Amino acid sequence: MRDIQSIVVLTGAGISAESGVATFRGPGGLWEGHRVEDVCTPQALQRDPELVHRFYDARRAQLTGIEPNAAHLALARLDAEWPGELLIVTQNVDDLHERAGATRMLHMHGELKSALCAACGAREPWEGALPPGSACPACGTAALRPDIVFFGEMPYRMEAIDRALGEADLFVSIGTSGAVYPAAGFVQTARYHGADTLELNLEPSGGSIWFAESRMGPAGVLVPEWVAQVLG
Ligand code: APR
Repeated sequence: MRDIQSIVVLTGAGISAESGVATFRGPGGLWEGHRVEDVCTPQALQRDPELVHRFYDARRAQLTGIEPNAAHLALARLDAEWPGELLIVTQNVDDLHERAGATRMLHMHGELKSALCAACGAREPWEGALPPGSACPACGTAALRPDIVFFGEMPYRMEAIDRALGEADLFVSIGTSGAVYPAAGFVQTARYHGADTLELNLEPSGGSIWFAESRMGPAGVLVPEWVAQVLG
């Protein structure tokens, strides 16, 4: 195994499960009878903006009642203490990594606490409900939408992610089902470039076969253990 200098961590809904956030594909993963794939699309936003905005309003409102768990705190510790390169890429749209104190991170699927202008592309920090037709503070158009990457849209910051994967010595995936690309393919990219690969998940995921090592269990236990191991 090569010396570890550069680490990329990918997180998914499973890391926030112990904070009380429902995962997408687990029990309780439906929202008012809708599959996430039926609500989180540009077509759904066009067809029924009330429904789509209400879905994200509910998720944004939920943030006030939840706290980072031991796994978020452990990654924040890694962020503070790891002397080499680190990039935490989250698919999550909650703000629990930041609230735990992580800084070397990015949201590839957008953020609940941000609104995006569909007309000019400006972003606006957002708290509370976001009614359809809200005016963009930058251009004035009534076109603000949740700043969320819908199915069929390009995830954010892919260049930075690809660069980090290309340089990674270790790729670690935490709490994600491996059902949604491109994130599901990061393990293969990292391997291709020679990285060691580790999965931390409650159960075997769709991508488990690609990892050199998989550890099964709750993130709140596995992540602090792994961080302690890496930091020595
Ligand atoms: N600890 C670790 N893993 C857990 C825990 C836990 N406490 N609880 C659940 N998991 C695992 C599940 O076993 C599952 O493999 O987390 C994974 C969550 O999978 P999904 O619900 O599919 O969430 P995710 O992989 O983040 O979804 C990817 O799909 O809907 C889109 O854009 C949305 O970012 C999301 C993307």
